[in-house]
Amino acid sequence: MAIMTSSPTYLPVLERVAEEIGHTPGRGRSADYIPALAARDARAFGMAVAELDGTVYGVGDWREPFSAQSITKVFTLALDLAREGDELWEHVGREPSGNPFNSLVQLEYENGIPRNPFINAGALVVTDRLQTRTGDAAGELLGFLRAESGNPELDFDEEVAASETVNGDRNAALAHFMASYGNIDNPVPVLLEQYFRQCSITASCADLALATRFLARHGLRADGTRLLASRQAKQVNAVMLTCGTYDAAGDFAYRVGLPGKSGVGGGIIAVVPGRCALCVWSPGLDERGNSVAGVAALDRFTTLTDLSVF
Ligand code: DON
Repeated sequence: MAIMTSSPTYLPVLERVAEEIGHTPGRGRSADYIPALAARDARAFGMAVAELDGTVYGVGDWREPFSAQSITKVFTLALDLAREGDELWEHVGREPSGNPFNSLVQLEYENGIPRNPFINAGALVVTDRLQTRTGDAAGELLGFLRAESGNPELDFDEEVAASETVNGDRNAALAHFMASYGNIDNPVPVLLEQYFRQCSITASCADLALATRFLARHGLRADGTRLLASRQAKQVNAVMLTCGTYDAAGDFAYRVGLPGKSGVGGGIIAVVPGRCALCVWSPGLDERGNSVAGVAALDRFTTLTDLSVF
């Protein structure tokens, strides 16, 4: 399966993408419901590609650390699926929600089972289950990201985590509501602490593209061991495609044509199965919480290269 490469195959394309999107970085608004994120310059822009053999390169601010936020939901999903397998799907669905990432509205109709693992409710269920299995979900996630990126300096941002805790009423409501249906194992404060630490991890486009590589390698980690069966890597990619950008997932699939996952820090990861993993970052968000320049850059990348799953 592996297409081995040691040269930056797509670097000229990245350079062209950066040029073509012009002044798009700067459009949109940095997330301000977490005050520590609001300070980032919306004009920042970086994009990186990690090839299957670990060659990584990029353009712009591709080595600048930013708040990974909801991008981490992909990794906790993979880590939990690797441990418990299909039983997870009894506790969280895999249908697009058509609602904003922090919405409460479907949970009551659907008996405390969130639509998918990438809206906040679903991510809380996944982190809860990973916490039960490991005793330290956020630590497990950080260890994984350090290993896959080869960057031992990746860490939590305590200021961001504290900022989320102070502004965490909605996530607390989601967690308590699901606990009332018996769909949360751990005490809600323990779960929220793990979830906010998870979201606060700071990493660059280079780090996150490398960490996403296992999804382009059908489940194989950087050291050659297997995190996910090939079938499970396919499943995670499919859920990213249909649910990774919330109520904009249809538009993202239409424009980009790749499994992708966004975060309110302005990052988006994307996977070209069998080829490479990408990460783009620009803090200006559209009204659905996806990076304006990030989506535009991925749209240009897949259009210029014809690399898409379609
Ligand atoms: O739960 C929250 O509000 C954030 N820590 C994560 C949100 C996020 O990144 C959603 N993504 N677009």
